[in-house]
Amino acid sequence: MEHNQRIIFTNDISAAIDEALANIDYNRLFVLTDTNTAYFVLPRLADNTHIARAHNITIKSGDMNKTIEATAEVWRELCANGATRKSVLINLGGGMVTDLGGFAASTFKRGIRFINVPTTLLSAVDAAVGGKTGVNFRGLKNEIGVFNEADAVIISTCFFSTLPLAEVKSGFAEMLKHGLLKGAETYDRLLAYDFECRDYDLLLSLLRESVQVKADIVRQDPHERGIRRALNLGHTAGHAFESLAMSHKNPIPHGHAVAWGMVVELTLANMLCSFPSSRVQEYAKFILENYGAFHITCKDYDALLTLMSHDKKSENGEMNFTLLSDVGEVKINCCASDDDVRAALDIYRDLMHI
Ligand SMILES: NC(=O)c1ccc[n+]([C@@H]2O[C@H](COP(=O)([O-])OP(=O)(O)OC[C@H]3O[C@@H](n4cnc5c(N)ncnc54)[C@H](O)[C@@H]3O)[C@@H](O)[C@H]2O)c1
Ligand SMILES: [Zn+2]
Repeated sequence: MEHNQRIIFTNDISAAIDEALANIDYNRLFVLTDTNTAYFVLPRLADNTHIARAHNITIKSGDMNKTIEATAEVWRELCANGATRKSVLINLGGGMVTDLGGFAASTFKRGIRFINVPTTLLSAVDAAVGGKTGVNFRGLKNEIGVFNEADAVIISTCFFSTLPLAEVKSGFAEMLKHGLLKGAETYDRLLAYDFECRDYDLLLSLLRESVQVKADIVRQDPHERGIRRALNLGHTAGHAFESLAMSHKNPIPHGHAVAWGMVVELTLANMLCSFPSSRVQEYAKFILENYGAFHITCKDYDALLTLMSHDKKSENGEMNFTLLSDVGEVKINCCASDDDVRAALDIYRDLMHI
């Protein structure tokens, strides 16, 4: 991560926008929203003098609209409203808006500055920070894009009051992942979080810690050549669950898939790297209580293995995982055989009582 990226944690958004723009000599300001954030979030910023003078661009919500066509719409609006290289784009939305807006800004006139204001927990903890921007293309996720950091990221939990609880839980799974990567102290604080209380100040402090974990890893390896792969924890099995659910026309939120995928991968970590079984049990209990279970039977194993080995097979035919030998002890590039994964799926079903 470049040193000049500022991450501002606050529940005073207007002051943060003033701060983020204070050192930028811009001529025109644009605010990108999707249809939901235009309705739920933008009005809350209307009092800010920068925002009041800005031009709003709204695109259709939903990941199926994270397209090159929608990006072209943003470029068109920028052109039509006098954007120059000295203009700034504020991306106000979830990961769909920060990914697409970051890409649109990075490519418009070879790159204008942009500020991410994530409005979902998933985008706050993951998408808005770390410099990956892009859009889906020909059915492939994030096929077209560039690495480019936002000038500033403003992180606040006050937007989450209009988010469905399932979306909050989806983002929280990535925080659990960061906690598992960081260490016992951070992780145990997350396990003690009570979703019912919706304590946004507490969530902001947990989020600050969690974003720092990602920022630190990205700083060491911005282009994912080594240690950044630690952030894939839970995602090999998680993506397989996500794709299986999709193929049954019953999509599940990304974070839920990761939450369940981490049950499988912590089990593998226990089998292959001596990750403590008490920690596996504790994690599975938290997930079962807060996310329920993703139902699979042994008939799904072949499909899951095919999905997991997609792009992940190493030369000797084994699959590549990021695992842990304990909370905070990361092992990237761990190999697991088909039989290891089948055994882990059996244990997953036991742990999830299915
Ligand atoms: N760049 C990265 O490193 C990275 C990392 C993780 C995920 N992503 C991307 O992020 C996207 C998923 O992020 P997401 O879950 O935020 O999706 P999203 O942006 O589609 O938001 C989810 C839904 O919530 C709505 N919404 C957003 N903020 C709201 C608010 N405050 N109140 C009410 N509704 C609100 C949105 O309109 C949308 O309908 C995917 O496209 C994924 O590829 C990128
Ligand atoms: Zn993820």
